[in-house]
Amino acid sequence: MIKIEDNVDLRSLNTFGLQGTAQRLVTYTDQKDLDSLFAHGKSEWQTGPVTHIGGGSNILFIGDYDGTILKSEISHPPVFTEESENTVLVTAGAGMTMDDLCAEVASRGLWGTENLSGIPGQVGAAAVQNIGAYGVEIADLIERVNLFDTKKATHTEMTASECGYGYRTSIFKRQPLKGQYIVTSVTLRLSRLPVPRLSYGHLAVRVSAFPAPQEIRREVIAMRDNKLPDWRKTGNAGSYFKNVETDMAAYDRICSMVQPEEVPHYPAGDGRVKIPTAWMIEKCGWKGRSEGGAAVWQKQPLVLVNATGNASWSDIVKLEENIISSVHNKFGITIEPEVEKIRNI
Ligand code: EPU
Repeated sequence: MIKIEDNVDLRSLNTFGLQGTAQRLVTYTDQKDLDSLFAHGKSEWQTGPVTHIGGGSNILFIGDYDGTILKSEISHPPVFTEESENTVLVTAGAGMTMDDLCAEVASRGLWGTENLSGIPGQVGAAAVQNIGAYGVEIADLIERVNLFDTKKATHTEMTASECGYGYRTSIFKRQPLKGQYIVTSVTLRLSRLPVPRLSYGHLAVRVSAFPAPQEIRREVIAMRDNKLPDWRKTGNAGSYFKNVETDMAAYDRICSMVQPEEVPHYPAGDGRVKIPTAWMIEKCGWKGRSEGGAAVWQKQPLVLVNATGNASWSDIVKLEENIISSVHNKFGITIEPEVEKIRNI
């Protein structure tokens, strides 16, 4: 079913809780709806530019959206199929809430998605931006991504390697394919045999010796709840900035500025290291600071929040720019936003 609404309040479409209006919102509940929406090229339901969004948990609307927002509500119950004795495939609609899928998978005792528990957003967007947490990325689990090609108006599919995944990226986010494909459903490979991934942070010490997926899910959610703001109470889009990988020269330079043992770092392969962006932001004195209606979350400075509930997009962008230049001035490192800006052109 296709639903077309005009002059829609943006607050229902972004977890930052930013106010504004979208000229048109087109939601659909079935992948076949895309056949009719795109049957004759540009159609009358399109007004202005067209942007497809997911749960709105990783976007920042730059003002009102004078165009058409497309949103999937393909959220039929996930379909589980036995692939082999120990492997199960699950196919979930792009509009399903990712955490509902994680809950269902864990409740069946299946392994794969437990470390991704508690991440806001929809399944389709998860596959577009390769969500990751606690040492697992969704790309590690993807068997195939089922797609609609808006240029050819046909359904197709891609394997994980065809999706060109990297840290929070895929071919769907990069030119020249950005905007061409719409994810209709995602098929993940799950295991019946235990494959706990506990090497990240303190996860291993928080769970029992032989944890079930449910137990890991519970602990992951507890860790997230402890550190990250609940967007329903304080608007935010999760990590606002990406983490960075640097070469050893940059790492040595940073070590020379502070007590070397103070610099958190993790191997990133090829002689490179990951230095948490949150640590650099904190060292620049931003933790808990606010500017206009926006603020840096006290418990996790990678997250910017709509502190007053009335922040404007420009409050958030100003804070972003000030943080980027201050990290650059202090450490010589240019950090990048992870959140995607949605503007009219
Ligand atoms: N790190 C490791 N191994 C570890 C622990 C940390 O490599 O055992 C690295 C991380 O990869 C990262 C850095 O150290 O480069 C900092 O890690 P931390 O646990 O402090 O997490 P974070 O940077 O605050 C990232 C994700 C979160 C995700 C957490 C937990 C980004 C931008 N953010 O946050 O994702 O929940 O790790 O895995 O990568 C989001 O994307 O919105 C988000 C909340």
